[in-house]
Amino acid sequence: MNDVKKDGTMDKYVNAKIEETSRNETLTKNSKTIENMVEMDSVCKTYEDGRIMALDGVDLKVRRGEFVSVMGPSGSGKSTLLNLMGALDTADEGRITVAGHDLTQREDFSTIRSAEIGFIFQFHNLIPNLTASENVQIPMLETPLSDEKMVQRAEDLLKSLNMENKLDQIPTKLSGGERQRVAIARALANHPSLILADEPTGSLDSKTGKIILDILRDIHRRDGVTIVMVTHDERVAEAADRIIQVSAGRIEV
Ligand SMILES: Nc1ncnc2c1ncn2[C@@H]1O[C@H](COP(=O)(O)OP(=O)(O)O)[C@@H](O)[C@H]1O
Ligand SMILES: [Mg+2]
Repeated sequence: MNDVKKDGTMDKYVNAKIEETSRNETLTKNSKTIENMVEMDSVCKTYEDGRIMALDGVDLKVRRGEFVSVMGPSGSGKSTLLNLMGALDTADEGRITVAGHDLTQREDFSTIRSAEIGFIFQFHNLIPNLTASENVQIPMLETPLSDEKMVQRAEDLLKSLNMENKLDQIPTKLSGGERQRVAIARALANHPSLILADEPTGSLDSKTGKIILDILRDIHRRDGVTIVMVTHDERVAEAADRIIQVSAGRIEV
């Protein structure tokens, strides 16, 4: 981590997050006692001043510990749905509760995200000039963990994903499957109660995709973490307890 601090890359992140840290310490996880990890009531989301209706009155409940797949045509609103659940974007109308936090009543989204939610994207979104271990440490910068503990946890997570020989590699030196393992380790860094995965196998060949899917299933089984996963692939979707179909901004029932 010291190397990174020298060129200022990590400093930018640290500085951006410092004001969050004190609030973060006060956010208690109440997700162990709630029934539903996600609740959406009549959620609408438009883009382009209302010209594009991305979500059109979505009602959805995801139970704590459930593994749900989201399927639907391109442009049907799957990513929008995930982004709203992940407090990466806000709804125009309706109510969203995630891990017991009412997102429509709160504004400290980054605190909720870092304490409760792990994200995995199709194109991993790793920071190119940071090593695998440093990428995994990024979410932990928002916690009171010492540098030593952050390094240890990042290494433990990567080792648990058979990445012990790649701790100090930068993303361009890793294969697609390896990058996605780093992204999974990063998503797990802060012990999330909810993992949101947007086409996590979408840019992988089918064999590598299956390995990544098996890792997600193991995490679900072992840790009981709730997973919502968007996928185009029916075989991938079938790994979940339940498949939700999205069509033109609505959930099909
Ligand atoms: N940031 C944005 N600005 C404008 N339109 C958007 C934006 N994000 C998504 N959309 C539009 O909203 C609709 C739903 O998009 P999205 O949720 O990405 O669908 P999916 O993930 O199912 O392919 C599409 O018509 C898309 O073009
Ligand atoms: Mg999408």
